Amino acid sequence: MTRAPIEMRLLPDTSAVESDGSLSIGGCRLDDLAGEFGTPLFVYDERHLRNRCREAVAEFGGGNVIYATKAFLCKAMARLAHEESLMLDVATGGELYVALAAGVPADRCVMHGNNKSDDELRYAMREGVRHVVVDNFDEIDRIERTFATGGGRVRVQVRVTPGIHAHTHEYISTGQDDSKFGFNLANGDALRAIERCRRSNATELVGVHFHIGSNVLDADLLGRATTMMVEFFAPLGLPEITVGGGLGVAYTAAEHAPTMGQWSAVVRSAASGLPAGVEVMVEPGRSIVAAAAVTLYRVGSVKTIPGVRDYVAVDGGMSDNLRPMLYGAEYETFMPSHPTSLRNRAVRLVGKHCESGDVIIDEAHVPESLAVGDLLAVPVTGAYGYSMSSNYNMVTRPAVIFVADGRARIVRRRESYADLTMLD
Ligand code: LLP
Repeated sequence: MTRAPIEMRLLPDTSAVESDGSLSIGGCRLDDLAGEFGTPLFVYDERHLRNRCREAVAEFGGGNVIYATKAFLCKAMARLAHEESLMLDVATGGELYVALAAGVPADRCVMHGNNKSDDELRYAMREGVRHVVVDNFDEIDRIERTFATGGGRVRVQVRVTPGIHAHTHEYISTGQDDSKFGFNLANGDALRAIERCRRSNATELVGVHFHIGSNVLDADLLGRATTMMVEFFAPLGLPEITVGGGLGVAYTAAEHAPTMGQWSAVVRSAASGLPAGVEVMVEPGRSIVAAAAVTLYRVGSVKTIPGVRDYVAVDGGMSDNLRPMLYGAEYETFMPSHPTSLRNRAVRLVGKHCESGDVIIDEAHVPESLAVGDLLAVPVTGAYGYSMSSNYNMVTRPAVIFVADGRARIVRRRESYADLTMLD
C-alpha cells in the first residue's frame, strides 16, 4: 500500500520545505535543531502559538479567553499567553506557582480543581486570583472556613455538570452526570450551590462554568451544550458564563477538526439569547498548543521479524507522550529530511521503555529508506505531551525549544542524570 507524504495541515504554521527538500519550522531546519539540542526534542513554533492565541482573542474578545495551562505550561508559555492577552486557567497550586513565577498577575489567573486543598485555596485567595471555579460543597465549606480565619471574600463561578456526553475518550469526557467534576444540573445540586454562593459572605458569585470534555471534534455538540447551559444560566441574572475548552484538533490525515471560528460561531449562536453585557468566556488548551509542536526522535534500532512486522525504536516513548497508551490516541510520523517522500513502509513505532505497551504508533508509515540514525518527527504533540511526561525508567525529560524567525531558544532545558537524584 502506498502512503502519501505527511499533510502540511498537520504541521505547525511556519513549516516549510527548504531548497534541499528538508523541513524547517520557524526558519530553523529540524535536522539542525536535532543536531544542536539533541533528541528527543519538543519543537514549538512560536508564531503558531501566537496565531492561535490571536484567533481566539479575535473570536471571543480580549478579556474572555483563558488558556488552560494543563495542556502545556512553562514560564515561557505562560508569558506568551499573557502577552497575547489571554488569562490562565490553573488547576493546581503548582500551575498557579508557575504562572506567577512567569510574571503573570494573579488577577489574570483563574483557579480550577475538583479537590483544592486548604493550602491551594489560601494560596489562590492570598495572591488574589481573578476567580475560583467552585467544584463541590466541601470546597464551599473550605472557602468559608478560610474566610472566617481572615481570608478575603472570593469571586467564584460555580462549575455545573450539564449531563451531556462528549463523544470523546471516556477519560477526557467530563460533562456527563456520572462525573467527579462539578455540581449536577439534573439533581438540583447546581442550583443549590448557586444559592449557597449567593448567600455566603465568603463568596461573590459572578457566574457559571461548564466543560463537557476534551478533544471534541463535533462543533455542533459544543453548541448544543452551550444552548442547554444558556437556558439554565439566563434567568440567574449573573454577569459571566464560561463554556469550557474542548475544541479538538486533527492528529492524523483521517481527522478533521472545527476551526476556532467555527467554534465561536456555534457558541455565539447559542449565546444569542443572553441578556446584553453577559461575558462569554472560553478555556481552550489543546486547540492553542497541540499543533504548534512536533517531537523529534532519533531512530536507534530497526528490527524486522519476517512474516510479522518491522519495529522501529526511537529514543523517547511513553515518558514524553503517554497519550497513545492512555487513550489509544493516534499519531503520524515522517522524516524531516524527506517530508515530501511517500511513506510506503508500514512499521510499528516504539519507544525505549521496558514495556511492550510503549507503542507510539501502532502502524506508522515511513519512507522505505528509513534506517538507524535517521531522524523522525511526530507532529501535533504540543498538548498533553510534555505536561504529562514522566521519568519512567529514569529517562530524562526532553528539552523544549521555541523557534521563530530563524532562531531557537531553550524554554525548558533537557534534564540531566543529576536531576534524577536531586530529590533523594
Ligand atoms: N477547562 C477545563 C475545566 C478542563 O478540564 C480542560 C481540560 C480544559 C478547559 C481544556 O480543554 P482542552 O481545550 O485542552 O480540550 N490529557 C487529556 C486531556 C485532558 C483534558 C483535561 N481538561 C489528553 O491528552 O487528551
